Amino acid sequence: MKINPANSVHGIVDLPGDKSISHRAALLAAMAVGDTRIENFSTAADCQTTIKCLKELGVDISHDGSAVVVTGVGKTGFRRPERTLDCGNSGTTMRLLMGILAGQDFESSLSGDESLQKRPMQRVIDPLEKMGARINSNNGKPPLTITGTNPLQSIEHVQQIVSAQIKSSILLAALNTEGVTVVIEPIATRDHTERMLEWFGVEVQIERNEDRTRIAVSGDSRLTARDLKIPADISSAAFFMIAAACFNGSDVTLPNVGVNPTRTAIFDLLVSLGANVEILDADEICNEPVGKIRVRGGLGSCDNKVILDGPVIAGLIDELPIIAVLGTQLDQGIEVRDAGELRVKETDRIAAIVENLKRIGADVTEFEDGFKVERSWLKGSVVDSFGDHRIAMAFAVAGLLAEGETEITGAECADISFPGFYETFGYIVK
Ligand code: S3P
Repeated sequence: MKINPANSVHGIVDLPGDKSISHRAALLAAMAVGDTRIENFSTAADCQTTIKCLKELGVDISHDGSAVVVTGVGKTGFRRPERTLDCGNSGTTMRLLMGILAGQDFESSLSGDESLQKRPMQRVIDPLEKMGARINSNNGKPPLTITGTNPLQSIEHVQQIVSAQIKSSILLAALNTEGVTVVIEPIATRDHTERMLEWFGVEVQIERNEDRTRIAVSGDSRLTARDLKIPADISSAAFFMIAAACFNGSDVTLPNVGVNPTRTAIFDLLVSLGANVEILDADEICNEPVGKIRVRGGLGSCDNKVILDGPVIAGLIDELPIIAVLGTQLDQGIEVRDAGELRVKETDRIAAIVENLKRIGADVTEFEDGFKVERSWLKGSVVDSFGDHRIAMAFAVAGLLAEGETEITGAECADISFPGFYETFGYIVK
């Protein structure tokens, strides 16, 4: 993919449905009793992977226009799969399915692509084994073989790693226990699973204190099918928000975006940088806040160095590649710390960000848990996606800001979260 410099970006951009919420909608609809029609289900390759796996587990799923209709089998109605479930590139598919499969009375195997086979699963294996499942792995990595059991034991799990996927896997397993399972998060992560459980009629007890969030789910909960609509993905919106903020005279509107407070740190960051960004028509659909995001360029002058670290990182985790690109446009640059989790995403995102920024001439320093980017003059060059969708899209935005042409190799992986990204992008760039 070749990207040329832009003067500004303009337009109304319809984004795919939220990837995180779509996974949860399909998985919980499958555990419910009855038919659930899901409007605006994400077209992301990762979400199609979840659908494919559920079909292999005996769930009837059909398409009706842009909607997906899932016929739920109930909490224990899944069928032993005939072959290894291929989770492709999707860590969310694998980790959340593990929670469901732990509570089924059969053996199942899960694997994925080269990237997924390198990703850590011990963090999910440990709590699920405590609950009674047996899980064989390749030194804590896929492929996995899960020997499920029902009922599982309820547990209290204090999160050591800040991860919504671990929390969600345990909460899904909790539905097949006889007691009450508790997850305690010292740092809050995205709460889509909790909200989606409530949507399907499960009582979720949530206590938020200054230093922790306590989430409790009872195993005797029943899920009832209920139609829903998925908001647009704020993590996909982020590329357009930052592109618009970086160019004076830009004006981009993103309708119906999910603005769940566990995901809007990117919005707050742009506000703190003096960007002209607003959330209009605030509403709620299917237990998730939504709004129309409008961004008009450019950025205010920023005298202070921007340091992102501590609890805010969880709310920005998927936006850090594009935030690194933003850093090259800020007077005082940007420093990101406490983000070691980036090293175990679809690729080592810290290494990928640093390598690509260097290739386009940015002044960047790598840390074990983050990076520091100085304001830089960017020069088009060849960058690599490293097979990671968010790296590819972040450097497409960098290409707009660089002088000359930027070439992204392996750019097609954007389809993992945003099929049609480059077409949409081409359409708004002036
Ligand atoms: C996700 C949670 C995050 C995020 C990922 C999707 C989810 O991962 O990076 O893209 O849907 O729960 P972790 O929870 O492992 O940090």
